[in-house]
Amino acid sequence: MPELVEYTRQDDIAVITIDNPPVNALSPGVPEGLQKAIQQAAADDQVKAVVLIGAGSTFIAGADIREFGKIVSGEKPRLTLLPYLQSIEDSPKPVIAAIHGTALGGGLETAMSAHYRVIAPTAQVGQPEVKLGLIPGAGGTQRLPRLAGVIKALEMCATGEPVKAQDALAAGIADRIVDGDLLQGAIAFAREVAGKAAPKTRERNEKLHDAMPMVFDFAREQARKRGRGLRAPLAAIDAVEAATKLPFDEGCKREAELFNECLFSSQSKALIHAFFGERAVSRIPGIPKDTKTYDIRRAAVIGAGTMGGGITMTYANAGIPVIVKETAQEALDRGMATIRKNYANSVAKGKLSQDAMDQRLALITPQLSYDGFEQADIIVEAVFENMAVKKQVFAEIDRIAKPDCILASNTSSLDVDEIASATSRPQMVIGNHFFSPAHVMKLLEVVRGKASGKEVIATSMALAKRLGKVAVLAGNCFGFIGNRMVAPYLREAQFLVEEGASVEQVNDALYRFGMAMGPLAMDDLAGIDVGHAIHKEFERFEKPGVRKPLVADRLYEMGRYGQKTGSGWSKYDANRKPSHDPEVAELIEKTAREAGIERRQVTSEETVDRCIYALVNEGARLLEEGIALRAVDIDITYIYGYGFPAWRGGPMFHADTVGLKNVLACIRDFEKQHGPYLWSPAPLLVRLAEAGQTFESFDQEKERTART
Ligand code: 3HC
Ligand code: NAI
Repeated sequence: MPELVEYTRQDDIAVITIDNPPVNALSPGVPEGLQKAIQQAAADDQVKAVVLIGAGSTFIAGADIREFGKIVSGEKPRLTLLPYLQSIEDSPKPVIAAIHGTALGGGLETAMSAHYRVIAPTAQVGQPEVKLGLIPGAGGTQRLPRLAGVIKALEMCATGEPVKAQDALAAGIADRIVDGDLLQGAIAFAREVAGKAAPKTRERNEKLHDAMPMVFDFAREQARKRGRGLRAPLAAIDAVEAATKLPFDEGCKREAELFNECLFSSQSKALIHAFFGERAVSRIPGIPKDTKTYDIRRAAVIGAGTMGGGITMTYANAGIPVIVKETAQEALDRGMATIRKNYANSVAKGKLSQDAMDQRLALITPQLSYDGFEQADIIVEAVFENMAVKKQVFAEIDRIAKPDCILASNTSSLDVDEIASATSRPQMVIGNHFFSPAHVMKLLEVVRGKASGKEVIATSMALAKRLGKVAVLAGNCFGFIGNRMVAPYLREAQFLVEEGASVEQVNDALYRFGMAMGPLAMDDLAGIDVGHAIHKEFERFEKPGVRKPLVADRLYEMGRYGQKTGSGWSKYDANRKPSHDPEVAELIEKTAREAGIERRQVTSEETVDRCIYALVNEGARLLEEGIALRAVDIDITYIYGYGFPAWRGGPMFHADTVGLKNVLACIRDFEKQHGPYLWSPAPLLVRLAEAGQTFESFDQEKERTART
């Protein structure tokens, strides 16, 4: 086994290098190796000071997150990093942490246990544990306020956001920025401080009382607003507050209690699932990492509407020159005006500089013709959701595009194979389904047609990363992963209002569950007209005699398209703030009466169960059909595309947490109450529940191999 921590000497300075690729996490062996190397330096008479540095592109990215599951399952003892880090601080010779890349979580805690920190100008430091549902667990909440002050520590520990080198220097976390060779700069620094009394962070109490008590209340209020339903940020604040009230060792004990409470919570399990899930979705069976990808240097987008505009911005934001084409000058002007307005808003909010806005706009070429399309490496179609229109557009671009140009459709539901059939090169055609607003939402659903080439898939997955997106690969079926599941989710939301819940009750129940917004609010945001167009395309799959939602079509006929028309399921003011609309309540009651639907009291619990289990049941079918590669692909789709709370881990992980037996029992009850077909449990759900298994454990590849 290679050494995880290496000890060398450069004359009078010991250099301890952590070498645990890819991110130098504090995996088993690293803390022990660090402690041993510190002892070696202490015993080495030639050594006057010690430099601690990471091999490769980074310092330490934190504790090894893979170990947490083992602690929770009892396979490993509780986290014991603290004493190892204490041994760094107790070194009789000054220790200088040299930070490049990132020093995150346990990485920053290690650096703060050193006596000094020097930092590369591009490096970042942070305590991101809250993003995993945790708090710093190796003294971070006690050391950071001592170095950076209480307010900065609260901000960093409760938001998890990293700070850049300049900020770290200003805050007192870093002692010097080293331009040029970091190791040599750190060694030079070490020689300057060698022989001097080395400051121990845990004894630096002077900044602990620089904040008023009310800052904690304020921090809690902010944390509750930012992370609705999240426990970890509040625990992080409690731990930082403890630093101001308790001696260091007592504060660390309090931190450990809070850390363990978070570690054993379902929120942390879910967020860790989401962390690894975000990375797992890029692994596609049959498409190895070294698959050839096309070089994407120029892009073209067709349609400058809601989606085309956002997609154009996404490319420009990534520094890729992009042509955007429309059919009429008016539509093009409108699209460009929206793009400019979006950028101007970001400038006004201080999120973007005027220079950056100008550079991005300069990358966009608006036009009405196909001029220049022959040079594009990818063309993204974002015209109306209508098969005939899409096929016409694909036939046109097939004649113009160069042979190795990727032809991508942003269709949200239509058959990618049928679209590809309009071209002479179906292997170059793929779905690139962005989510609205496309320049903001992180999800890209990459839809694989039956002919889509491996290189085309690999390029889309890699390109997504460049565009700042998380890509999930979906198979081709009506609605793919996201919208096929959203259909039964919205169906149940609508049935519930027909049965007696108010629009607000349905929205509120799902919002309280943790969704970014309620289902009917989402329908109003996406556009009832858009839903109607999808519904029209979907009608041919519907089974005669099966109950269908009735109200949305009426809203469409009334021109109530949602937020964009100021009215949909709710009324909207000029700032798009929703309010109850008695006209809709009346419409719902009348429609229900005419259809003979009995109105009754509907509870929040039933509302959540029906909407969420409708998602889960459809997700199970997608998984069994192979449309989704793994349950985690569904989870990531829902977290990044539909505002599903990450702290519940996505719909499939949530079902695993509730227990598939319980989910199945509930679905069977709904089947009894509402009839078969819509609520027939997915065969995979039945099988896994009866076998006491989980969606997470279901490996489709193995199933397929076993079947063949
Ligand atoms: N533990 C275990 N594995 C980790 C890890 C960690 N802390 N951080 C990253 N990895 C793994 C990733 O899973 C990925 O594995 P894969 O290649 O098998 O998918 C690999 O390292 C590379 O990671 P990324 O793909 O994310 O690489 P990037 O270069 O894009 O990002 C990073 C690097 C910024 C370090 C990012 O990985 C990251 O944010 N990591 C998590 C940092 C974090 O949360 N640290 C706190 C951990 S908890 C803690 O320290 C508790 C302490 O207080 C006691
Ligand atoms: P939109 O109606 O806002 O924009 C479509 C634009 O395409 C219009 O401006 C129209 O003039 C233009 N257009 C039509 N034919 C054209 C052609 N031949 N050449 C150039 N431009 C042409 O529609 P929206 O909402 O942007 O939807 C576009 C596509 O994105 C659809 O397939 C839709 O299903 C999909 N989608 C929509 C989402 C949404 O929330 N609105 C989310 C994800 C995907």
